[in-house]
Amino acid sequence: MPLSIIILAAGQGKRMHSDLPKVLQPLGGMTLLEHVVQTAMTLKPNAIHVVYGHGREQVPAALKHLSVRWVLQAEQLGTGHAVMQALAGIPDDHTVLVLYADVPLVRTETLQKLVDSAARGELAVLTAHIVDPTGYGRILRDAEGQVQRVVEHKDATADERKINEINTGLMACKAAWLRRWLANLGNHNAQKEYYLPDVIAMAVAEGLLVDGIAASGESEVAGVNDRQQLAAAETTLRQRIAAALMHQGVTLRDPARIDVRGQLNCGRDVCIDINCIFEGTVRLGNRVGIGPNVVIRDCEIGDDTQVFANCVLDGAQIGARVRIGPFARIRPESQLADETHVGNFVEVKKSRLGRGSKVNHLSYLGDAEVGREVNIGAGTITCNYDGVNKHSTVIGDGAFIGSNISLVAPVTVGSGATIGAGSVITKEVPADALSVARAEQKTVAGWKRPRKK
Ligand code: UD1
Ligand code: CA
Repeated sequence: MPLSIIILAAGQGKRMHSDLPKVLQPLGGMTLLEHVVQTAMTLKPNAIHVVYGHGREQVPAALKHLSVRWVLQAEQLGTGHAVMQALAGIPDDHTVLVLYADVPLVRTETLQKLVDSAARGELAVLTAHIVDPTGYGRILRDAEGQVQRVVEHKDATADERKINEINTGLMACKAAWLRRWLANLGNHNAQKEYYLPDVIAMAVAEGLLVDGIAASGESEVAGVNDRQQLAAAETTLRQRIAAALMHQGVTLRDPARIDVRGQLNCGRDVCIDINCIFEGTVRLGNRVGIGPNVVIRDCEIGDDTQVFANCVLDGAQIGARVRIGPFARIRPESQLADETHVGNFVEVKKSRLGRGSKVNHLSYLGDAEVGREVNIGAGTITCNYDGVNKHSTVIGDGAFIGSNISLVAPVTVGSGATIGAGSVITKEVPADALSVARAEQKTVAGWKRPRKK
């Protein structure tokens, strides 16, 4: 049966107290809405319709890359009204699955159950038993346990509020039915809104079977309405990702202290210490070790490389058996070949370091091409910026660059060359030569220091 998915994303999210529309709030490096779209895609639907409204142009503009149909709900008159806007573009014979952009962590397997039930000719409604149901719509069942209707928290009696089976809001059924029911929806309730869950009582009145499917757990269907619930969703996501990584064989020193805001791919026997953040797409080779408090974004790291504590790596290609840190910063477009060492308080930007080269202490390498087996001493920097343009520094294989040297770019150091400590290098250093560029040391014997009168 053809499937159309409707995602409701038009609400303001008052309880967030934010200038950002709620559905654009970030969760694990993606917006809430993107999470729901990503899960929706796994069902391979004919189309995904996203109902937007609050924050108008902001929402579709921020998520232009999504292949969905944007449906404007100009006034937010309720979830039933929102579904009606999207239904206009959906043929009668489609199964419709309704998702909420503020219920971001629902699983594919659960949604598949709803779709299957709808295909059998039922109205499938996802419910959940939760400890504190405050704020949610409650599921009312009859003596036989059949779902009868949903009552919103604000409309519920004290007795109804004691029920802790809640309506998750997610449902599926034939488009034709939904169209018929929604046309008869009223808004005589506490919020003067057209409530989608009211279609459940209509289905029951027609003698249709309502299939109340229970979600696998509370966290899967938790709504995100305020910052506390957003943080709770982040915790759920973190637990899921950590469990998946450990299942694949990754050692996490503490699964509660890792954040993956994107895609993390690990080889065998990777070990990750506490408080690490991975963003974008990160690939770690076999036996890579990541120390505590490391932030890595969009990097590829080769086998057996060790990243020590407190490093920030961004947009770099890093080879095998490399040692980085502690306290190193590697910036975009950098390439560290196999067996290189980048030590403490070293910053590398848009530079290439050839195999086996070392820059171990207190250095800045920007726009540099460094050959193989080069040694760069403590405190040496490239002066790559003249105030307007960036210039490059080229260092040949096997060069020995002493300590506290300024390499004023553009400048070239030939292979096998040596530079004496404290030099300011402004001219080419030929291969295999020694260059020293500093004032000669003067000595005054018996020098008398000035004295206070
Ligand atoms: C809704 C359900 C409630 C359920 C809960 C589960 C209704 C009336 N109530 O309540 O039974 O327990 O979700 O999380 O459906 N939206 C629109 N247009 C609108 C109104 C809302 O697109 O006019 C969107 C919102 O952006 C949100 C979703 O629909 O993504 C749910 O709306 P929200 O106002 O958060 O409903 P709840 O009060 O949480
Ligand atoms: Ca909600």
